[in-house]
Amino acid sequence: MEIFLDTADIDDIELYKDFIDGVTTNPSLAAKSGAKDFEGLIKKICKTVSGPVSAEVVSETYDGMLAEGKRLAKIHSAVCVKLPCTFDGLRVCKALSADGISTNLTLCFSPTQGLLAAKCGATYVSPFIGRLDDIGHDGMALIEELVDVFDVHGYETKVLAASVRNLQHVIQSAMIGAGAITMPPKILAQCFDHPLTTKGLEIFAKDWKGRK
Ligand code: G3P
Repeated sequence: MEIFLDTADIDDIELYKDFIDGVTTNPSLAAKSGAKDFEGLIKKICKTVSGPVSAEVVSETYDGMLAEGKRLAKIHSAVCVKLPCTFDGLRVCKALSADGISTNLTLCFSPTQGLLAAKCGATYVSPFIGRLDDIGHDGMALIEELVDVFDVHGYETKVLAASVRNLQHVIQSAMIGAGAITMPPKILAQCFDHPLTTKGLEIFAKDWKGRK
């Protein structure tokens, strides 16, 4: 399972680079980073981490997204162009895939959007599980449906669990067989922690220091 860090913060990427297979960004995360030069930021991320770096288009038309996607792909060979699961976003995915450019189809909220993304040759499709849970739907059910559909039909598109809010999202995505997950730094940090590990280490240290 690939683990991506969902951030545009270079310090966090540096901190966790031994544990991640790449990075995913989105316009909100890029804006939050405060970087004025988006393409420069993506280049820096690509140099900091090895593996795919998802960079999202902000254009709203087919022509705009296509041109922007091609421009983003030229920044670095690790760039994975992030496109929305819309009529035009999917058409751009098909065109970029035909050119050998990797893609991540974002804002996926239904199995039909995921199916179309796979048909258009998407490298990844990103179901937003937390945002589905937020409105009373079942985000994990969508992961299960997408994994099943891709398995049954032999699509190579990977399910990339996104909008991850807690460790249950991580554990269940791994158990269901999502090919990838992207986590914000605070969730990845929680993956290392267990109170019994901390307590156990304290006991070992105390016993070691008190040996006769
Ligand atoms: O990268 C997209 C996604 O992970 C966003 O998550 O928490 O804003 O729903 P969130």
